[in-house]
Amino acid sequence: MHAFRPNGHELTCDGVGLAGIAASVGTPTYVYSAATLRERIETLHAGFGDYPHALHYALKANSNLAVVRVIRAAGGLVDANSGGEIEVALRAGYAPSDIVFTGVGKTPAEIDRAVTLGVKAINAESAGELERIAAAAGVHGRVASVALRVNPGIASESHPHISTGMDSHKFGVPIATARTVVREASARPELDFVGLHVHIGSQMLGLEPLRRAAAAVVALAQELRDDGVRVTHLDLGGGLGIPYEDETVPPAAAYAAALVDVVKPSGLTLIVEPGRAVVGPAGALLASVVDVKPRAGGTRFVVLDAGMSELLRPALYGAFHRIEAVAERNGTPVTCDVVGPICESSDVFGVGRSLPAPRVGAVVAILDAGAYGAAMASNYNRHALPAEVMVDAGAWRVVRRRQTLDEQLVCEE
Ligand SMILES: Cc1ncc(COP(=O)(O)O)c(C=O)c1O
Repeated sequence: MHAFRPNGHELTCDGVGLAGIAASVGTPTYVYSAATLRERIETLHAGFGDYPHALHYALKANSNLAVVRVIRAAGGLVDANSGGEIEVALRAGYAPSDIVFTGVGKTPAEIDRAVTLGVKAINAESAGELERIAAAAGVHGRVASVALRVNPGIASESHPHISTGMDSHKFGVPIATARTVVREASARPELDFVGLHVHIGSQMLGLEPLRRAAAAVVALAQELRDDGVRVTHLDLGGGLGIPYEDETVPPAAAYAAALVDVVKPSGLTLIVEPGRAVVGPAGALLASVVDVKPRAGGTRFVVLDAGMSELLRPALYGAFHRIEAVAERNGTPVTCDVVGPICESSDVFGVGRSLPAPRVGAVVAILDAGAYGAAMASNYNRHALPAEVMVDAGAWRVVRRRQTLDEQLVCEE
């Protein structure tokens, strides 16, 4: 299902005209499709069938409260990557037992909060962190549920900046040392050792690395069982990619089937933490053209009012996003470089793109921007954090109003 489709001469989100939203709210504005969010959660659930599983949506991809509430209503639980994301989850209506807490650098305050809340599992990153969790649990008279994040030394075959499963990456403990780390941690009365965690990368287009990572933790769980440590779940992280351009991506059903296939002989509950695959295709960034000027080579620069401060992925990873005109879609296509207004040469959304003769004031939609879009937005160049809109059942509403300059400055006065 594609949320962002043309209807006559206008691009729409689930049939709701995007030009009207841009005219009313202004730009830059993120627009989300509630129907797509629901459909992505339901399709993933269906893929795992009746095998014991839980979907813990990775809040880092997009933690707008309205987005999270739609995901909750659709049956998604959450993976929080910071104390802030834990609070968002609670505010969205989740219970502590719905939350797994991941994060490579958990602060003492974050550990305290997770321990006293009693989250479903704290995914520990090191032997030292397990120590600190045990100490915090001791202070509060609690038993903390913990899992250990292991680093299996498996390449995700995705962009180097979003690969996390090799020994040069900072995440987790090397799998070769995990058995010893778990044996020691599980002897602590303040810790309940519930699982193993692995996440080898994001925007993955092949299933083989995911299968290998799953097999590695299944084997480790068996070794732990031999040591008398009974884990109850395997958390295989996120990572399923989406087609930004013309990539072939495994369907959710094939992804789920591949993981179930590997985990089933262990009988352990399977947890996944999808982020991008849930929210990426559900969002678009609307931006207005503020200038059109000639470029060497006979093409043109189309300058938008949104840049890397609103959508960082192209500047950060060289990521590709489709860009489409919202209205006036039938004009003669011309070649252009679509760029942002930020004073950085990397502030480019697309080179050599074809758009129907863009004019100043026209609105474009940057597609598949629901994941790692608004969540990574910043105030660089004193841009306001953008507005966000949810389209649901033929209507739309603002789910985050545009930030004002006073709101930026209030912390500085
Ligand atoms: C631990 C962990 N889980 C889940 C995710 C979500 O990944 P994705 O958005 O690729 O599904 C990430 C993202 O990097 C992560 O670091």
